[in-house]
Amino acid sequence: MRISHITPDGNEAYVHEVPQFGLGVFLMSDGGECKDSILTALEAGYTHIDTARAYNNEHEVGKAVRESNIERESLFITTKLRRGHATGYQDTIEHCQKSLELLNMDYIDLYLVHAPPENPDHRAPVWQAMEYCLEQGWVKAIGVSNYGPSHLSAMKDYAKYMPSVNQVEFNPWLQRPHLKQATEDAGAKVMAYSPLARGHKVDDPQLGMIAEKLGCTPAQVAIKFCYDEGCITIPKSSNPARIVENIQSLDVDISSQYEAIKSLECNYVSGWDPTTEP
Ligand SMILES: NC(=O)c1ccc[n+]([C@@H]2O[C@H](COP(=O)([O-])OP(=O)(O)OC[C@H]3O[C@@H](n4cnc5c(N)ncnc54)[C@H](OP(=O)(O)O)[C@@H]3O)[C@@H](O)[C@H]2O)c1
Repeated sequence: MRISHITPDGNEAYVHEVPQFGLGVFLMSDGGECKDSILTALEAGYTHIDTARAYNNEHEVGKAVRESNIERESLFITTKLRRGHATGYQDTIEHCQKSLELLNMDYIDLYLVHAPPENPDHRAPVWQAMEYCLEQGWVKAIGVSNYGPSHLSAMKDYAKYMPSVNQVEFNPWLQRPHLKQATEDAGAKVMAYSPLARGHKVDDPQLGMIAEKLGCTPAQVAIKFCYDEGCITIPKSSNPARIVENIQSLDVDISSQYEAIKSLECNYVSGWDPTTEP
């Protein structure tokens, strides 16, 4: 999928290609769990890994990529500036360099501000430093995560490059049409985190019935829904069979059950939701 950054004069800058499906590695903090899961995923055909400084496993992401012997250019690595580190221009630059060091890579494909900096005065300088990282070639694309419509529209006053991506919770139980529209209006793609609502909803009986009709697993229904809605979709699993099951969702045709899946919406937030913060 093509991503880019809209400039104030309406042009696109720093165009990049992102695989629309990837592996999330949140809560893979035990030694080796993250590396082993990534190696299984790469073997199964995954080409995109979503990590973050807050997950404490960037070093394992780097190790897995090197151990796989797959060319760096064939893979797409997303990482994030931790919210507590998003405190100013210089801090942002230093933390980007630290992530590069932990990953032991020459560049990051997509670097995200993990959530709107808690102090609103820090939002402009943090973003301007993200832009600097982009211009230096340390990162190929920049974006945000957990930004709500008001955070995105405020960026128009200080951004030289609007974000290419807004990573937010999105799944059949939290479809967020307003936030999706605001993200697209900013020129960004939605990246769906927690597509399985952190696993809270895989045993939902309604989802089970839909899966039975489609002849696939419940998790595959939820993942393919996010994907078909045009979102970059990054389910997490450290279970080898589920890592394979999740990528196989891309082969499932959910169109006959689309309305039933749409009707699962219940505004369920499985994790946190900074998008509504001031
Ligand atoms: N930007 C942010 O603020 C933010 C917040 C949350 C997540 N994220 C990103 O999004 C990624 C995915 O979100 P998430 O980790 O919160 O949750 P998720 O992908 O919605 O769900 C993960 C949970 O579902 C289970 N699971 C995975 N595949 C399954 C399957 N086929 N059948 C049954 N259970 C299955 C996993 O257990 P097993 O591992 O045992 O399979 C795990 O407990 C994260 O890893 C992270 O990269 C970003």
